[in-house]
Amino acid sequence: MISIQNKSMDIPIIQGGMGVGVSLSSLAGHVAKCGGMGVISAAHPGYQKEGFRKNPKETNLIALKEHIQKAKEIAKGKGLVGVNIMVAGKGYDDLVNAAIDGGADAIISGAGLPLDLPRLAKNKILMAPIVSSARAIKLILKMWDKKHECTADFVVIEGSEAGGHLGFKVEDLEAKKTQSLEEILDEVKEEVTFYEEKYKRKIPLFVAGGINTGKRLKDMILRGASGAQIATPFIATYECDASDEFKQAVIDCHEEDIELVKSPTGFPGRAIVNSFVEKTRVNGPICMKNCLDCMIPCTPSSTPYCISEALISTAKGQLNQGLLFVGTQASQVKEMMSVEDLINRYLREMEEA
Ligand SMILES: Cc1cc2nc3c(=O)[nH]c(=O)nc-3n(C[C@H](O)[C@H](O)[C@H](O)COP(=O)(O)O)c2cc1C
Repeated sequence: MISIQNKSMDIPIIQGGMGVGVSLSSLAGHVAKCGGMGVISAAHPGYQKEGFRKNPKETNLIALKEHIQKAKEIAKGKGLVGVNIMVAGKGYDDLVNAAIDGGADAIISGAGLPLDLPRLAKNKILMAPIVSSARAIKLILKMWDKKHECTADFVVIEGSEAGGHLGFKVEDLEAKKTQSLEEILDEVKEEVTFYEEKYKRKIPLFVAGGINTGKRLKDMILRGASGAQIATPFIATYECDASDEFKQAVIDCHEEDIELVKSPTGFPGRAIVNSFVEKTRVNGPICMKNCLDCMIPCTPSSTPYCISEALISTAKGQLNQGLLFVGTQASQVKEMMSVEDLINRYLREMEEA
């Protein structure tokens, strides 16, 4: 049992938020039902809804609240339901307010530093930054303490093996010069100690990126983590909200198919190299029609591709136009299973370790 403030989880697993349309109510609800924290991605949760093209912002806010409610219904009072909100996305404040109004238990926020999250969310919902270095958590916790007189309820520490956007320099990733997840955990642990003492509470740490076995998870817990945030293996589950085509692509991929890719957000990403990725590498900037106006760092006139359209295509199963974000461990995913069986595999391996 892991306590986070006045809430608790039966198992040490957070399912990582995956946009677009990969972790919505079905996946998050079933993870919560098993006693973990299921996380809904706030990246275009309304992509399937009527009205999305006309008014994406409003449609996404309505859809986010609906997915939180549905996930809670599936969970039947068990576990926790969180929302992943990217700092680099536009409309951040509205998404935070929708997550709170919708009744989510937690907001997990990365792809940038969520320095201002407490202004909207303090004492209303659990707040967790995602960081990839001790420097980042130091900055965030200092700001939250000084400006907002609060600290993080928990922290997600994402290492270089994760999927989606990565919080490391592309040169360091390519040269394999990034710190190990273990090293980052040790350093972040040191940084949070001061605030644990000041606010007289534990700040649970969850490691993410390449946590592929219960043994690895147990090792991290023995080293001081409270648990792990796991994403890629959940794609190949029956309950995952992703398209069947994406699930199959994860099952079929090999280690050599997974590479670093450029994203219009400016962050490097990790994905399965398919015909779409190959096209983006040779073609120049595209002419954006129907811009969804979603990412702060994106320049529509010079973007090599639209990240939202590419991820929406994957969510719809149109893989030749889609970006397939995965973590390094995707090549070890070999079969489709239920969320319960996947979680039980981790728990069994933890016991055996
Ligand atoms: C398909 C996919 C989409 C993702 N989308 C997001 C996202 O929208 N926001 C975010 O903070 N992290 C995102 N991530 C990162 C995960 O939440 C998670 O931290 C990471 O992938 C953990 O590593 P693992 O996949 O090896 O378990 C994504 C990962 C994947 C595989």
